[in-house]
Amino acid sequence: MHTILVLGGYGFFGSRISQALAANEGIRLLIGGRNIAQAQSAVSKLELSSSQAIAIDAHAANLSERLVELKVNTLIHTAGPFQNQDYSVALAAISAGVNYIDLADGRDFVAGIEQLDSLARERGVFVTSGASSLPALSSAVVDRYLLRFKRLETIRHGIGSGARAPGLATMQGVFGYCGKPYTRLQAGHWQTVYGWLDLQHYHFPKPVGARFLGSCDVPDLVLFPRRYQDVQTVTFHAGFASASAHLFVWGASQCVRLGIIPSLSSFVTPLHWISQWLEPFISDKGAMFVAMEGVGIDDQPLKLEWHLVAAQNHGPYIPCGAAIALATKLARGDQLPSGAMPCMGILTVEDYLAALHGFDIRELPA
Ligand SMILES: NC(=O)c1ccc[n+]([C@@H]2O[C@H](COP(=O)([O-])OP(=O)(O)OC[C@H]3O[C@@H](n4cnc5c(N)ncnc54)[C@H](OP(=O)(O)O)[C@@H]3O)[C@@H](O)[C@H]2O)c1
Repeated sequence: MHTILVLGGYGFFGSRISQALAANEGIRLLIGGRNIAQAQSAVSKLELSSSQAIAIDAHAANLSERLVELKVNTLIHTAGPFQNQDYSVALAAISAGVNYIDLADGRDFVAGIEQLDSLARERGVFVTSGASSLPALSSAVVDRYLLRFKRLETIRHGIGSGARAPGLATMQGVFGYCGKPYTRLQAGHWQTVYGWLDLQHYHFPKPVGARFLGSCDVPDLVLFPRRYQDVQTVTFHAGFASASAHLFVWGASQCVRLGIIPSLSSFVTPLHWISQWLEPFISDKGAMFVAMEGVGIDDQPLKLEWHLVAAQNHGPYIPCGAAIALATKLARGDQLPSGAMPCMGILTVEDYLAALHGFDIRELPA
């Protein structure tokens, strides 16, 4: 049996990952978080033993000892937001000889995980950050089509979400940079843009249709120019299912940019509450796109566009696919590389989507 502890295992994404792993007979699943009552309720819903609910604080000084004591083989860290975290959880896992997978979406956090590479190699453990839609799935899509390009010059990608609001940690992460400056590569130059501004109107395939999108600060903006050497432009945009909610966030981000309000961080809890309340009134459909442009192997201009479409509010399972796929590989004894790396080049699109089998999630290949 391969023991996996999901930190934040009763959270929005953690509970979905736990649900998938509980069905795997080769895995002994532990569901952890700071609230033991919530962990107990999660294990009882999954018909697991009450001893599989663990009261644990990700940032406790004795985390490494706890992992050894619990005989954990792999730790899945979903206890975000990651934007201001250090690597103490990953370091505790390495020191305990435990594989580590996180769902981070913080640009510097994911890109910087490589600083733990030699420690992870010495200990012979697999450590990866960003095991989620970005950059795990997004880079797997680009890798799949790369051979069709002589020169891949532009990658534009984005997500239009469905009605179901993610957990507080995700909202704290993404609202933290509303109206705040960050850089992205545009026509070969690093330019400053502002979170949730740069309003776009993108036409997703049916049944999703047109959505407003705003610019987001994500790990891919720095990782893709490193991974794909000819790339001159990398952008990422995201948007809400409700056009009016999106325009509200866009307006509020303008206020932050203009210095009228310092940040949207303090509004996250009421915004989370409002988005849960609005859920029945807005579309349960969402989608992701990856558009790649450049010169094809026949020296002609080439543009490819890949989509993933989710319905019935199944979109929130998509960010869970990487952690489920990696945990499944580790549990069946597949060799994953020792070392610490952003989650790119480890999973194919097929690996990723196999972990989402059974949900109303449909790929439209380029
Ligand atoms: N890279 C991507 O593409 C991508 C996409 C989507 C989401 N994400 C990431 O996924 C993360 C999780 O999001 P979510 O929506 O599931 O958030 P959530 O519902 O708020 O869940 C967070 C969980 O972590 C637990 N937690 C928080 N602090 C903890 C601590 N110190 N020790 C132990 N447990 C702790 C929380 O429980 P307690 O507070 O009770 O402890 C909760 O169960 C986000 O940070 C986001 O960055 C990444």
